[in-house]
Amino acid sequence: MRRGGGGRTGGANRLGGIMAVQISPSILSADFARLAEAVAAVSNADWIHVDVMDNHFVPNLTLGLPVVESLLKATSTPLDCHLMIEDPDRWAPAYAEAGAGSVTVHAEAARAPVRTLRQIRAAGARAGFALNPATAVEPYEDLLGEIDMLLLMTVEPGFGGQKFLDVVLPKIRRARALIERHGGEVWLQVDGGVSAETIERCAEAGADVFVAGNAVYGAADPARAVDELRALAAEA
Ligand code: DX5
Ligand code: ZN
Repeated sequence: MRRGGGGRTGGANRLGGIMAVQISPSILSADFARLAEAVAAVSNADWIHVDVMDNHFVPNLTLGLPVVESLLKATSTPLDCHLMIEDPDRWAPAYAEAGAGSVTVHAEAARAPVRTLRQIRAAGARAGFALNPATAVEPYEDLLGEIDMLLLMTVEPGFGGQKFLDVVLPKIRRARALIERHGGEVWLQVDGGVSAETIERCAEAGADVFVAGNAVYGAADPARAVDELRALAAEA
């Protein structure tokens, strides 16, 4: 069952009470003419993070369902689809039905998040819910039972290679506390500016799933960068 499958950690984000670190390289920073090679280059990653941008919810335009369908044929690493699009209620279930392991919709864009999150789960994927840097987590506490992963953006969404926003760190801590109070099952992902310089701060604050674009695909050896990021987060 895809929803339970979480890459290398076999679906659990806790190993003997300790949070298991997962790394999700973002192909936004890869060569779009060589995506299959980019994905194969990080076979040691837990997930492949796929940024879907529609030039409306965010200013940038990237890729959509046809490319995701092709990537699914090209790799056995589960796809972590981050939808930065308007009207995710309409489009998100199709990514889950296509076979994405995780589908994340934005709080700022979803008009019927409970219905959409349930549709994502019903289609066999993990349901993710994303918050922009200025969106508070507290109003969504009651949704924790509906989601498998909370994504806290640590840059304004839209582009790779931006500077990490330290202002989000207190929210990561508060989100971790809410998740613990709720039973600890929800993964806490950070996305944006995550690198060897910033990943320890995120891990220490309570994140356990780390998206990294430039820090992985800007490195001479992307697989090695994945291992180094994982080690830094695990030690934090
Ligand atoms: C930004 C995207 C990120 C992006 C991260 O809106 O959601 O996934 O690829 O790239 P880096 O790690 O380079 O900040
Ligand atoms: Zn992303």
